[in-house]
Amino acid sequence: MKTSLLRSLMLLMALGLVFGASSCKMTTPNDPTVNNLPTDPGDPSMDGGTPVRDDDATDDQSTPGEIDPYSARLGVIPKSLGSMTIPTSNPLTQAKVELGRHLFYDKRMSTTRQVSCGSCHEPSKGFADNVSVSPGISGRMGNLNAMSLVNLGHYEDYGWNGRFKSLEEHAPGPIFNTVELGFGRDPNFVEYYGDPDSDTVILFRNLGEEPKYPKLFKDAFGTETITINRIAQAIASFERTFVSNTSAFDDFNNGVKRALSVSAVRGYKLFINPTKTNCISCHSGANFTDNKFHNNGLSVSTKNKGRAELTGNSADIGKFRTASLRNAGVTWPYMHDGSITGATPTAALEEVIRRYRAGGDGRMNQDERIKPLNLTDQDVADLAAFIHSLTDTKFMSNPALQNPF
Ligand code: HEC
Ligand code: HEC
Repeated sequence: MKTSLLRSLMLLMALGLVFGASSCKMTTPNDPTVNNLPTDPGDPSMDGGTPVRDDDATDDQSTPGEIDPYSARLGVIPKSLGSMTIPTSNPLTQAKVELGRHLFYDKRMSTTRQVSCGSCHEPSKGFADNVSVSPGISGRMGNLNAMSLVNLGHYEDYGWNGRFKSLEEHAPGPIFNTVELGFGRDPNFVEYYGDPDSDTVILFRNLGEEPKYPKLFKDAFGTETITINRIAQAIASFERTFVSNTSAFDDFNNGVKRALSVSAVRGYKLFINPTKTNCISCHSGANFTDNKFHNNGLSVSTKNKGRAELTGNSADIGKFRTASLRNAGVTWPYMHDGSITGATPTAALEEVIRRYRAGGDGRMNQDERIKPLNLTDQDVADLAAFIHSLTDTKFMSNPALQNPF
């Protein structure tokens, strides 16, 4: 245990050095891009444009006038995600997590036996995928972009419009969704049932074909019996282990300054600057979301009314939960409808930022904070570099989260 901790520490330091070295290469005192920092003397949260620069890899001292990215006055990102609430009715145990992991990746969970939760939520893609709308059983399409799954224990509402109140409540959703995993008695889809049994009977029979389950269910719940409630509790337990806080930005936030490129540090400063971008007013906290619902005026499709589908309130049309930006570098296309795409992931990300720069499309209910921004193309690239620094490859490649089959 200790050795592996030490090893990852050393890896972290090595990474820091690599990033640090590359940032040194990009930065000379006369580098014009360095001076292209936000300067707003009227803004007390800014430092008047003094760049964070680490030319000397051995010197970790702050230079005079340099902003302290950790100081509270900047409204910076908390270092810790805080604690998650685990329902007393579903205590987190390793046995439940292990069962949940199997169910998450098991294609027997779909009527066609060709789709699993993991088909749309792939680990290497931030537990999302790279299509605008993911096909479910037999290529059926819904109208929403698969959400990335990250730090799931830290939300209060699930889904783009927040219609599920807990992970336990959410898990049966995709199973009994006629597009996603296909159970749910779609009259147009009877060929996959082939008999009059109820959906749950067929689902349990599918799962009964996997010899590992009797032991997995027994270890998790004391008996081998399969119930929907147990499936939901096990999947929810597995999902609570999706903790991502080991990105380059987290290292930076924990004091390893060289974990970020100079461009990403500039992007970070823009991101938290209330007058330059105000991104942080919605993408706030350690998970880069305020967990609230807003209309950012950037998506295209009107097929989904967002929060209004739940509240019936026209003032909620087009409001979706602020997307966490953790791992957003690998979850393109963007927005709830996957409408913002690009030739490359970075191009897609920059396209999002350019549309924010343009001030959104000015639609009904667009949040008043979305307005034209005075950003250069370099600023756009810097913001994208910052968002890329939130990609947590350690999280995505964590062996405990991979397909056990
Ligand atoms: C066909 C693709 C597809 C499949 C299969 C699928 N999902 Fe999803 N997932 C989505 C989409 C699309 C959304 C957004 C849905 C919404 O907003 O209502 C989503 C949202 C979620 C969320 C909400 C995340 C958040 O931050 O609010 C969770 C959790 C989740 N899925 C877990 C699962 C689990 C567990 C399964 C298997 C039982 C599963 N998904 C199967 C596409 C899929
Ligand atoms: C008024 C609140 C608000 C502000 C300010 C805001 N965002 Fe967003 N952001 C959202 C919401 C809400 C979504 C999801 C919208 C949707 O799905 O249609 C989102 C989505 C995104 C996405 C796509 C993530 C994904 O997985 O699809 C990115 C990237 C993003 N924002 C970056 C930024 C940046 C950079 C800024 C500052 C220039 C910013 N946001 C400012 C509310 C905001």
